[in-house]
Amino acid sequence: MNKILLLLNFVFVTLAQGYSQDNILINSYNRPVTSLNGAWNYIVDPYETGYYDYRYTPHDLSQNPSNGAFYLNAKPKDKTDMIEYDFDQSPTMQVPGDWNSQVEKIYYYEGTVWYKKSFDYKVLDKHKKLFLSFGAVNYRADVYFNGKKLGVHEGGFTPFHFDITNLVKANENFIVVKVDNKRKKEAVPTLNTDWWNYGGITRDVNLVEVSETFINDYFIQLAPKNKNLISGYIALKGTQKANQKIILSIPELKLKQELTTDTSGRAAFAIKVNKLKYWSPDQPYQYEVVVSTLNDVVKDKIGFRTIETKGQDILLNEKSIFLRGICIHEENPLRQNRAHSIEDAKLLLTWAKELGCNYVRLAHYPHNEHVIRLADEIGLMVWEEIPVYWTIQWENAQTYANAENQLKEVINRDKNRAASIIWSMANETPVSKARTEFLLRLATKTRELDPTRLVSAALEIHATDAEPFTKTIDDPFADHVDVLSFNQYVGWYDGLPDKIDRIQWNIKQNKPVLISEFGADAKYGLHGDSLTRWSEEYQKEVYVKTIKMLQRIPQWRGVTPWILVDFRSPRRLLPGVQDGFNRKGLLSDKGEKKAAYAVLKDFYATIRKQYELK
Ligand code: GCU
Repeated sequence: MNKILLLLNFVFVTLAQGYSQDNILINSYNRPVTSLNGAWNYIVDPYETGYYDYRYTPHDLSQNPSNGAFYLNAKPKDKTDMIEYDFDQSPTMQVPGDWNSQVEKIYYYEGTVWYKKSFDYKVLDKHKKLFLSFGAVNYRADVYFNGKKLGVHEGGFTPFHFDITNLVKANENFIVVKVDNKRKKEAVPTLNTDWWNYGGITRDVNLVEVSETFINDYFIQLAPKNKNLISGYIALKGTQKANQKIILSIPELKLKQELTTDTSGRAAFAIKVNKLKYWSPDQPYQYEVVVSTLNDVVKDKIGFRTIETKGQDILLNEKSIFLRGICIHEENPLRQNRAHSIEDAKLLLTWAKELGCNYVRLAHYPHNEHVIRLADEIGLMVWEEIPVYWTIQWENAQTYANAENQLKEVINRDKNRAASIIWSMANETPVSKARTEFLLRLATKTRELDPTRLVSAALEIHATDAEPFTKTIDDPFADHVDVLSFNQYVGWYDGLPDKIDRIQWNIKQNKPVLISEFGADAKYGLHGDSLTRWSEEYQKEVYVKTIKMLQRIPQWRGVTPWILVDFRSPRRLLPGVQDGFNRKGLLSDKGEKKAAYAVLKDFYATIRKQYELK
C-alpha cells in the first residue's frame, strides 16, 4: 500500500509543482533576495545512478532510500560505509550558467548533471516565509532541499520556485538539483530544434523571504484600448489574505488608491488617469509603482502604453507604427554561452538599438528577465515566444499542459512590462487539425491571462505549382491571431535571389503583417559575387531584394530578419563555413558587421522617417 501512496505522491508532486498556477511569486526581481549564484558542486551522471536504484526504481519512491540517492548528499558515518559519490569532493561550476560552455568534456552532453549548494541562513522568523526561486533550468529540474523532494519543473526557459519555509535551518542547508537536458519527442521543444541545447541551471537562483501573507501577484497596466484607465488586480497569498487593506500608489501621479481584498485575497481596480507620460521606444517612460499592505511592500517600475491593431495597422498609443526589428537567440556570442546576465542583455539589446531597431523578437523561447526589464528601460518593443517549435506532439495532453504552463509562467513574469507587446504561440508548425486546436487553446488561455497584448505566431505560407511565385497565408490559425506573421526564405531555401523579384503576395486577411524571419547565411569575410553561396555579397543581395519585395505587401507593418548574430546550432556542420554555427547573423560570432548589416540599418532609418512624418 505504501508504495502506491508514495507513487501517487510522486506523481502529484511532479504534476503539482510543474504545472500549478497559484504558484506565482511576482516581481522577486525587485525584492531584497539572498543570491545563491556562484560555485555549485556538480556530478555528471549519464546513467542517472544517483536517481535510480539498480532495479531502475527511483530512490524518490523508496521509504528508506539507500545512500546511493544523491539527493541525500550522504557522507560515510564510519570507515565501513560504502558511498560512491561525494559532492564536496566533486568539481564546481558557476550558477547561473550552462554546463556546455563551462566544462569542455560535456560540451555536447545531453543527460543528467547533479548540482549541490550548501548555505547557512538564519533562524527564520515565525511570521515569515522563504522561497527557493530559479530563473530557469534547462530542461527538467528535480529539486531537493535538506534531503526532501520539493518537486519537479519541466521547461527550460521560465521561472519557478518552491516553498522551503518549514525545511530551512539556521545552518548547513543543502540544495540538490538533478538537471536533465535530454531532448524528448513529447517535450516542449521537441527533439528537433535549430539551436544549442545548453543544459544546466542557466539563470539566477535566489532565496526570497516574505511575510507569511504577502503580495504574490499583480497586474497593473492600461486597460485594453483605453489610455486613460489603469486597471488590473493585486493578489495576496497566505493565511491572512482575505479582507486585507492594500495601498496602490504611483507617487508621480499623486495616485494613492486603497483597496480591500475579497475572500480569495484578490482586489481588482480601475483607476482613471490623465496626463500620463506614455511608454514608447523613443520615450520609454516608467513610473514608480508601490504596492503595500500591513506586512509587505513591493516596488516596481512600470511603463503605461496601449497596443492594438486597427485594420492593417498596429497602433502604439493610438499611433500607427512600423516594427523595425531583429531576431535574437539567448546567446552571448563573445562568451559563446547561454546568455543570462544583465551584461549579456546590454550587449545584445545595445546591438539592436545601434541597428536602428525599436523592436526585437526573442526567439524561440522566453529569455531571462534581465532582457525584458532592460527592453522596458531602454525602449524596445518585444515579441515573446514559447518553444512550440516545429514538430510538437500535438495530440499529447501532457505536452499541451507543459506548453500552457510555460506560457503562463512567462505571462505571469512579464505581464507588467510595457516592452512586451506580442505573445507568440508557436514557430513554423506544420498545419493539422490537432496542431491548430493546440494553438487555439494556447491563444484562448493567453487572452484570458492577458487581454492587453497581441497574439501571433510564425504561420505557414504556401504557393501552388500553378502559381509558384504567388504566396498566400492559408494557415487556419491566421483567423485567430491579431497580427499575421510568417517566416519566408525566398532566395535562400526557396530559389536563388532573383526569384525574390518575381514574388507576389496574395494576403486576403485584413490584418497587419509582420515578417517574423527572412535571411541568408554568410561567413564573415567570405567574399564572392551575389550568387556565391555563404558569401557576404549573397546575404546582402537577399536583404536588398527582400526589403524591396516586402514593400509590395500593403499590410506590411514590421519585420525581424533572422538574425542579429551568428549562433550555435548542432545542425550546421559545413567545415570552414558553419563549423557548428548558423551563419544568418548580420554580425559574426565575434560581433563583426557583415555587408548586409548596412542594408537593414539604412532601410530602418528611411522607414522611421516615413512613419514619423505620418
Ligand atoms: C527557421 C527557424 C529558425 C532557423 C531558421 C534557419 O525559420 O524558425 O529557428 O534557425 O529558419 O533555418 O536558419
